[in-house]
Amino acid sequence: METNTIQTTMLGLLETLVQKSLITNEQFQQLQQDFTPTSHIDAAIDWADVRKLFFDNGVTPNFTVEPMNSANLCPTFFPVLRSINALRLQFNEDISMQSRKKRYTEILETIRKVIGYHVGAVSESGVKNIALVRNTSEANNQLSKGYKHWEGNAVLLWDENHPTNNNVWKLRATSTKKVKMFSLKDVDFFNSTDAEITKEIGDVIIDAIRQSSEKIVMLSFSEVSNISGICMPSKEIVARVRAEYPEIHIHIDGAVSWGGLEINLKEKNGVKGVDCDSFASSSHKWLMGPFETGIFYMKPERAQNFDISIHAYDGKIGFSDTIPNDTSRFELLGQRDEANIYALGQTIATHNRINGSNPKRIEERVKFLQDDLRKKLVLMAERLRVKVEHITPISQKFSNGVTVFSITTPNGAINHEKLYNDLYGEKNEKNRFAVGFIPERKGDNPHPEALRICPHIMNLPNQITAVVLKIASLIQKNHTITIEELNAVTQEEVLS
Ligand SMILES: Cc1ncc(COP(=O)(O)O)c(C=O)c1O
Repeated sequence: METNTIQTTMLGLLETLVQKSLITNEQFQQLQQDFTPTSHIDAAIDWADVRKLFFDNGVTPNFTVEPMNSANLCPTFFPVLRSINALRLQFNEDISMQSRKKRYTEILETIRKVIGYHVGAVSESGVKNIALVRNTSEANNQLSKGYKHWEGNAVLLWDENHPTNNNVWKLRATSTKKVKMFSLKDVDFFNSTDAEITKEIGDVIIDAIRQSSEKIVMLSFSEVSNISGICMPSKEIVARVRAEYPEIHIHIDGAVSWGGLEINLKEKNGVKGVDCDSFASSSHKWLMGPFETGIFYMKPERAQNFDISIHAYDGKIGFSDTIPNDTSRFELLGQRDEANIYALGQTIATHNRINGSNPKRIEERVKFLQDDLRKKLVLMAERLRVKVEHITPISQKFSNGVTVFSITTPNGAINHEKLYNDLYGEKNEKNRFAVGFIPERKGDNPHPEALRICPHIMNLPNQITAVVLKIASLIQKNHTITIEELNAVTQEEVLS
């Protein structure tokens, strides 16, 4: 893909909208500024400028509560919010079916294309392989609700899957529709090489498929776990399972990967993609896009293996008595919010602009921030004489932005839920942070309660210093760690 393809596609959409009088000339002039060709972006990027993309021009870039919980929710780029508001106001002026049909078709089909470029899933003309859904929860539910081949067989899930891709399957299981689980508790993520870990994960999955008394017809796992932060070697898993069991449907829950990890589903820039059968994600997490907008990719030839749970108007206020054969069968939801869908395209164009000629620039930055956090935690642990136990692997291959860890003091384990609430703090307090709390896991794969911190491109290393300093102060009031010491840990040369 040529680096400007996404920007030119979005500009083309605006030109069509203005030509058809669906937006005003003034709006066109305003909105087109968001799609500066990527070639105009310097090779080096100033991440402080990227942070400013979350604020109006001229406003001091301070959040009331610093966001560091990207696995759950991220703030939206400010220009994206501005477009949503502008377009909603414009569309509010004319709610006629005549213009909505035109608007919807133009916006939806262009954004579908833009998503295809971004996730490496450009489809054949006339065939839709991506459905615009509300979020990952909806897509995951469509799978367990509708899979026709589950009857008489079993699905295989990772025990770290999100409830919508774990508990929901169990709720729908019957004596003839079984759920099997695999666990990575015996994989040594801390002492094995990346190649050994990859092989072990593959072995665990293949063994589980072999040992199942029922035929496994679906394998479904999170690409990045929201509870341990483990980043799965998706491409290698798919290749290994496919080689032995080509008929198994492989679903990847990408809620915690899209936007932080470069996604390549089929093919991108001449590089072969993961080749999973389906993939779901939400735009309000690592993508930093509009809320309540998600994607559900599925190989179109697999779509007919699923019944749908919702059938309603298509976007053109038409009702068809036949269900589409391709993946668009999952997106028939009646009236839609076109402004939000447009905003998703704009969000992707913003990623494209930040990435410039390196499609992995954001991913590299996410890994850099994670590393910065870990190093600062090491300094804190040494100085406070506490133990920081990492639940997330340290390897760059098996982690991507989600850092889950537990702290133990010489007096015993700390209360992580209290720490999480104290980090959030009180109104008018200066340093407040949105992070995650992971409750203790009991049972077959036990883990202590933990804190989850997920910095993203809106955070700078000095905010990571601030969160570590606040953790230190909450554990030991009279510690002597200084901001300067923590800031000195950041390897500045990597910052450009
Ligand atoms: C792995 C995973 N899957 C699915 C979801 C659900 O995402 P959403 O609430 O956007 O539907 C989450 C949310 O945290 C998640 O972490």
